[in-house]
Amino acid sequence: MQRLMSDETHSYVNGTSPILKWAGGKQRLLRQYAPHFPEKSAVHRYFEPFIGGGAVFFHLQYPNSTLSDRNEKLIELYRMVQRDVEGVIDALKPHRNEADYYYQVRSQDPATLTAVERAARIIFLNKTCYNGLYRENQKGIFNVPFGRYSNPKICDERKLRAASHALQGVDLVTGDFDELAKIAEAGDFYYLDPPYAPLNGTSNFTTYSKSGFDEDDQRRLADMVHSLTDKGCFVMLSNSSAELVYDLYQGHGYRFIPIKARRMINSKGDRRGHVKELLILNFDEKN
Ligand SMILES: C[S@@+](CC[C@H](N)C(=O)[O-])C[C@H]1O[C@@H](n2cnc3c(N)ncnc32)[C@H](O)[C@@H]1O
Repeated sequence: MQRLMSDETHSYVNGTSPILKWAGGKQRLLRQYAPHFPEKSAVHRYFEPFIGGGAVFFHLQYPNSTLSDRNEKLIELYRMVQRDVEGVIDALKPHRNEADYYYQVRSQDPATLTAVERAARIIFLNKTCYNGLYRENQKGIFNVPFGRYSNPKICDERKLRAASHALQGVDLVTGDFDELAKIAEAGDFYYLDPPYAPLNGTSNFTTYSKSGFDEDDQRRLADMVHSLTDKGCFVMLSNSSAELVYDLYQGHGYRFIPIKARRMINSKGDRRGHVKELLILNFDEKN
């Protein structure tokens, strides 16, 4: 696998990269993950039920993929990029990086737009909003302020077409993560990247969408990992190094790989540092 080592994002030349910047996105961690992915030839089907920005999917592009997320707007966006990328590009082109215009687009009622316009709106807001992070308030409304970037690439045609190409033949599903476990068969590969278990009570990594991902959800996910393991699936899980994560996964014969991530380290998000995260695998290096 050929790597570009020019900057810390460690992009790979053989896959494509996400079209959205996403909270908890894994693009920067691919280099650390790469040695641990199962061999393509050993994988029957690929499932990613917390797709978010899809860094791992776009990098791997295994055949027979099913992607899902609880966020229906995100899944609609991928459907539009899959089915009508030229329409999305055309709808993106008129958007401009100006504060007044940004707030005007942000205040639009998505229900009054076409599906292609909604997809373009999310990409535009994602490229021009503060920190480029998707965040909704309690009512499910996107509420991030303008980002003041000097020249953001709002319409990256090459990247959008590459993403559309990668999404051809892919099943896109809206729903809770455990829906995808119901159809599991031996040899399927599940990459699981849930909102992380908080290292402390103030972590904001659980607020991706209308409601958070609480301890019960972490327990439901662990049950799913155990049952996928019993069925003979490959499972790779990203999570924080919180005590809860060790409690839920230790003692089941899984491998724990420490991952060094650069993350926000305080609740105001103005300080960054290296944080230990985990990759938890239910299979050996040579599969
Ligand atoms: C850490 S992000 C995934 C990031 C992704 N791996 C990337 O590289 O961009 C977690 C995702 O899980 C989704 N999510 C949260 N709760 C969920 C649930 N119960 N079922 C399915 N998806 C959920 C969120 O909408 C979010 O997109």
